[in-house]
Amino acid sequence: MSKNVAITVVGSGYVGLVAAACFAELGHRVVCVDNDEAKVQMLRDGGVPIHEKYLQELLDRYRCGRLEFTSDLRAAACDAQVIFIAVGTPQSQAGSADLSYVDAVASEIARSIDSYKLIVEKSTVPVYTNEWIRRVIERNGVPQELFDVASNPEFLREGTAVTDFLHADRIVLGMDTERAAEMLRRIYEPLASGDYYRKAHAIPGTRTEDDPPPVLMTSTKAAEIIKHASNAFLATKISFINVVANICEAVGADVQEVARGMGLDSRIGSKFLQAGIGYGGSCFPKDVAAFRHVAEQIKVDFGLLREVEKINLEQRQRFFRKVQSVLWTFRGKKIAVLGLAFKGGTDDIRESPALDMVKQMLHEGAAVRAYDPAATEHAKDMIPVGQQMEYVDDVYVAAEDADAVVILNDWPEFAELDLRRLRGILRYPIMVDARNLYDPSAMAELGFSYLSVGRAEVSPAALCGSSRDIAFLPQSA
Ligand code: UGA
Repeated sequence: MSKNVAITVVGSGYVGLVAAACFAELGHRVVCVDNDEAKVQMLRDGGVPIHEKYLQELLDRYRCGRLEFTSDLRAAACDAQVIFIAVGTPQSQAGSADLSYVDAVASEIARSIDSYKLIVEKSTVPVYTNEWIRRVIERNGVPQELFDVASNPEFLREGTAVTDFLHADRIVLGMDTERAAEMLRRIYEPLASGDYYRKAHAIPGTRTEDDPPPVLMTSTKAAEIIKHASNAFLATKISFINVVANICEAVGADVQEVARGMGLDSRIGSKFLQAGIGYGGSCFPKDVAAFRHVAEQIKVDFGLLREVEKINLEQRQRFFRKVQSVLWTFRGKKIAVLGLAFKGGTDDIRESPALDMVKQMLHEGAAVRAYDPAATEHAKDMIPVGQQMEYVDDVYVAAEDADAVVILNDWPEFAELDLRRLRGILRYPIMVDARNLYDPSAMAELGFSYLSVGRAEVSPAALCGSSRDIAFLPQSA
């Protein structure tokens, strides 16, 4: 029996497209389906709808070979042995996950089943979704022996999605039958055995043939919960360190030192202890709300998650007040904003704290000149160019004659600014940094008033008083 599997991936968003490209990279024959005809055509023509390292390379490698794109779900499902569902599960008004796309896809798949198929849920979904998919397919008259439903949650981060997939911390496979287990093992065998990492064309990363990702076989319900619980836990870690940062600020300690001290405890770990303006993106806000909703439905009190969400929103407000504290008023001020995406390394602006911050600045009467290495075009759809809003494609153009520069996400280039040049072109040498990219004392030495998160505000070494005094000077003079 051939080791390669005929796979259909439904949905060509972050998870679907990356999974499809990576399955092709593992040697499988893959059809990626999307109901957006324009997107399908773009993918066929060699375009890539998202900014993701190595994705273009993989799509170019397989586009004319074992990776195809179509909008015909029925035909694609008919030809597949395994069908991955990777469609969106947006947040409903009630806070729960809206599963209508999953439902519609399951019904459509059911209509094309005439031989055994394994249907695998890859979108982030609440526990019991597998059960619902099974019911939908049965209701459409498909006998039990012709299909199984499994869960294979994805843990990739935007910006490092391809490496996260191929060099995973773990591969979670949730299923309830041996034939489903056998098929899923076959799909991931090149990674689990380590064979993939021996190949000359392998995408580089942390895994090696001697240290392949562990495969965890669980029930479908456990797999579903692992995904929600992992995202909720990481969001909790972020909210936790953000409150610790606020304590540090109040008492004059440095949250970076505290996070380092905590993170060296192997039980805690150093990752996701970076204080800032709170988490954003298409996953954490939605998944924390959905997991909390699951708990409410089964009458389990998960008030902790409510607190996590509250802290997250408050953190944005706190940062906004910090910018205000240094400018006094926003009206008539020019602000250079660095970063629009919800984090560095991506062009995704969904639930971006940075965009939220820009909206508030504009609302208060400031003029914003913004730069982001990848997200500008998407940002323009949300905040159109106008008298008060300008987008530029260079940090230093953004900073020219600005009253302050505000860093809102963590693109690597924002940590490597030519600070002397920046100081020379800003109207006032003021930086407010939501990502703690610079050392406060070095900034003061360089003549900046520098405000960050969870660390003391510093002012130019030569000057007395706080940066607020400097900002206020021209107005009171
Ligand atoms: C997140 C998870 O990290 C992935 O494991 C998961 O697969 C994905 O959601 C998903 O469910 O699809 P992603 O949304 O790409 O990935 O972004 P992260 O890198 O996790 O960052 C999320 C937010 O938290 C960003 O706004 C980031 O700036 C913020 N963050 C992250 C912090 O404020 N501090 C940190 O220490 C880490």
